[in-house]
Amino acid sequence: MKIVHPPPFPTRVFINLTNLQANLRLLQKLAGRAALFPAVKANAYGHGARKVVSQCLKEGYNTFCVAHLAEALALKQAGLQAHYLIMTPFLPPLADEIVRHSFMPVVCTLEQVHRLARAVKKQNKSVKIHLKVDTGMGRVGIKEKDVFPFLNAVKQAQGVEIEGVMSHYPRADEMDASYTSTQTKRFEKIRKKLRPYQIPCFHIANSAALAHQDNAAFDAVRPGIALYGLNPFGLKESSTMADLKPVMSWKTRVVFLKEVSAGTGLSYGHAFVASSRMLIATLPVGYGDGLRRILSNKMEVIIGGKRCPQVGRICMDQTLVDVSSLEGQVKVGDEVVLLGRQGTAEMSAEEMADKASTINYEVVTGITSRVPRIFIS
Ligand SMILES: Cc1ncc(COP(=O)(O)O)c(C=O)c1O
Repeated sequence: MKIVHPPPFPTRVFINLTNLQANLRLLQKLAGRAALFPAVKANAYGHGARKVVSQCLKEGYNTFCVAHLAEALALKQAGLQAHYLIMTPFLPPLADEIVRHSFMPVVCTLEQVHRLARAVKKQNKSVKIHLKVDTGMGRVGIKEKDVFPFLNAVKQAQGVEIEGVMSHYPRADEMDASYTSTQTKRFEKIRKKLRPYQIPCFHIANSAALAHQDNAAFDAVRPGIALYGLNPFGLKESSTMADLKPVMSWKTRVVFLKEVSAGTGLSYGHAFVASSRMLIATLPVGYGDGLRRILSNKMEVIIGGKRCPQVGRICMDQTLVDVSSLEGQVKVGDEVVLLGRQGTAEMSAEEMADKASTINYEVVTGITSRVPRIFIS
């Protein structure tokens, strides 16, 4: 992309909404007749929740998974009318606000139910809840053996309607799907037992399960990472996920160039010392933007269509790159790709995550709010 006037902030994230649309369509194919509830928590995994939600609304999706009440509120206040499923347990005093805005909370304690019932009565409204059952994640949820007593207690709470029962997979990203298959069967058993309650929506699948687990779609699926074109299996290949298109690219520009002689120490702690004469570019990006410091001396960036090694400690706002291989071809203002493509070279969030000993989820959600998101389609 040619930018004539440099933007005031030199590092930018580009969000390709056409790719998001293609991913939605691919995932819906995998989900079959199950509804798709896009996971847009954490600012849509760093992609910009407002634009992502509005694109999904255009595609006909109207139920979104957020983590917190505040996320649902921000989206609603931005004019995005939709159903918001609040997945992280809410603190009981927030029940009033949840009912007032007709959000759908995920519930896993009776105190939450009682607080919602009180709020419903006070406001003369009703609330739809999704009950979280812990079938193996070990994070939140009621135990399987408590499902019946819990549901019976909820039945006494007037105006509190059980819209869904949900669970979550802890190991769906493993190539050995046996644990996940057992969990799917357990969830199916729960569904069968709960038939008399006529609960409309059972859901458990995240992106990885949608890709590799048979019978995991139930009534709805909650993909996040795959929606953004990223592989839930990291660097491991997945034929089902192969056609996903990364939605995000992350770019900056060269702001300074210098030649250094052999023996010159670079950046904090001189964690890199030039072994010969080198050409070094400074990039105006650092851990203040989400470029993780642990990547120091490990990662590469793309300049002039070529991979160039990053050198020295990544600072809060600046990072150095060895551009000796581009001598005579690189100048201040040149585009640098941190994530995405340039010519035939590509840097993926999976590769960056691997080098930082983390997962692609953390790479994209970790890009901080000072980096502008530019939406293209
Ligand atoms: C409860 C729940 N459902 C769905 C998702 C989406 O998972 P993924 O991004 O792996 O598709 C998450 C993400 O962490 C989650 O916590």
